[in-house]
Amino acid sequence: MRLFTTTAGLRCYLERDCSGKDIGLVPTMGALHRGHLSLIERSRRENAITIVSIFVNPLQFGPTEDFGCYPRPLEADRQLCEQIGVDAIFAPTASDLYGNCLPTGAMSDQLTHVVPPTAMTSVLCGSSRKGHFQGVATVVTKLLNLVQPKRAYFGQKDAQQLAIVKRMVADLNMPVEIVGCPIIREESGLALSSRNQYLTPLQKDQASVLYRALQQAQKAFEAGECDCTVLIEVVKSELAAVNDIQVEYIELVHPTRLTPLEKIDDGGLLAIAARVGSTRLIDNVLLQHRKPIVAIDGPAGVGKSTVTRQVAKALGLMHLDTGAMYRAVTWQAMQTGIDLEDESAIAELVSQSQISLTTNEEGDAAPRVWVDGEDITQAIRALEVTANVSAIAAQKSVRFELVKQQQRWGSKGGIVAEGRDIGTHVFPDAELKIFLTASAQERARRRQKDLKDQNLPNVSLEQLERDIQERDRRDSTRAIAPLRKAEDAIEIITDGLSAAQVTERIINLYHQQVTAAHF
Ligand code: PAF
Repeated sequence: MRLFTTTAGLRCYLERDCSGKDIGLVPTMGALHRGHLSLIERSRRENAITIVSIFVNPLQFGPTEDFGCYPRPLEADRQLCEQIGVDAIFAPTASDLYGNCLPTGAMSDQLTHVVPPTAMTSVLCGSSRKGHFQGVATVVTKLLNLVQPKRAYFGQKDAQQLAIVKRMVADLNMPVEIVGCPIIREESGLALSSRNQYLTPLQKDQASVLYRALQQAQKAFEAGECDCTVLIEVVKSELAAVNDIQVEYIELVHPTRLTPLEKIDDGGLLAIAARVGSTRLIDNVLLQHRKPIVAIDGPAGVGKSTVTRQVAKALGLMHLDTGAMYRAVTWQAMQTGIDLEDESAIAELVSQSQISLTTNEEGDAAPRVWVDGEDITQAIRALEVTANVSAIAAQKSVRFELVKQQQRWGSKGGIVAEGRDIGTHVFPDAELKIFLTASAQERARRRQKDLKDQNLPNVSLEQLERDIQERDRRDSTRAIAPLRKAEDAIEIITDGLSAAQVTERIINLYHQQVTAAHF
């Protein structure tokens, strides 16, 4: 593992050792705990290189805040990073990062600041921490510009920070994916934070009431309560059970726009800030009527499409046929006569077109596919589309745009999606992840039967098996969306099983693992 304390050292490392590799950045202020480690682990799973930045950013502390005594255990942090397989730490000094514009308070009139939208900074922590989110946005922009990561990881505990960074990256067209990761808690429910170190054992115990109070509100919400005033009252009455908690705010806001809500329609972020002694703590829960997502991945020729369709039908969820979306783009590109290798023209096309999928009335057939209002369900199955679709699906910008669209659909849940990277990349938080597989012999036999059923020329089993092995090798080693089993996916080997038997197994798993936990 490398440790860089200057931007010059970091730059050189990026040029010499990281060129062409996907970088994941985990920005931190050090004093690393299990919450940070979960971000690092996620980055390691998703990127070739993981860089952790450790920098206590003076710009985001107010003059009366804890900048001076914020913990800085650099050697312990270095050891943790080394143990967990971080590739490099970037721990610059303030003068290295800010030059001679070194700010001393929450603002400096010698420095360009990034100013997030006031609507997002005037609520929650922003109302008492003036300038804090400008400080965060500024340092995060500098770190992203320096490291140029493919992905950057932030905890959901700082939900306002996460929403602001996501908005900033979208508004300023910064070429990075911001990945939000779940809150990690102690057994008592207390959300992990570097500031928990300031708490005595008794205060830690008292602080656990914050999450209990939020959980009570979550229960009320799940029982049908959507009114802001009532939900906040539920939190207050639970907090009242513990002395010595000084609440700064309890607010219910829109989860991404952060605008105050009177009642929850799609979803809400219920957030709290309170002092236990002199330590300021924050916590939150997302209140969302989100239905579960089922991700089904696996190699080609394993029967994923049939099974996915049947599972979606049986569970009353939408079949998000991602393959159909790639076919739709291919069809559209062919219609407009674009050169299929002209990636930039195709990128323009895909970002302008409106693909939509609607459930077929019969439910057991593939969903209907529409582009700009035209039903192209049949057209995308044409042989010419089949011949060109893999080349189009391999284009980076096409994948980027379609994954964004798929995630938008997934934001309300209630879908079953199949592919190669659904559980690892598109919906890493899916409630149920299945990895379907079968031996190459079994898949070759099935393929041969398909050829026969469609009156197509016979191909020997040996040849089919070789083709399948070669395809698996290509799919699992390609740079974009490689085929990989997610660590938390359940593998089903389908040799000797019919599609109906596989479907039944998945439905049973759904009832055992998802229905029980979710509703
Ligand atoms: O969340 C933090 O630790 C900090 O706000 C961050 C994102 C590292 C910026 O200084």
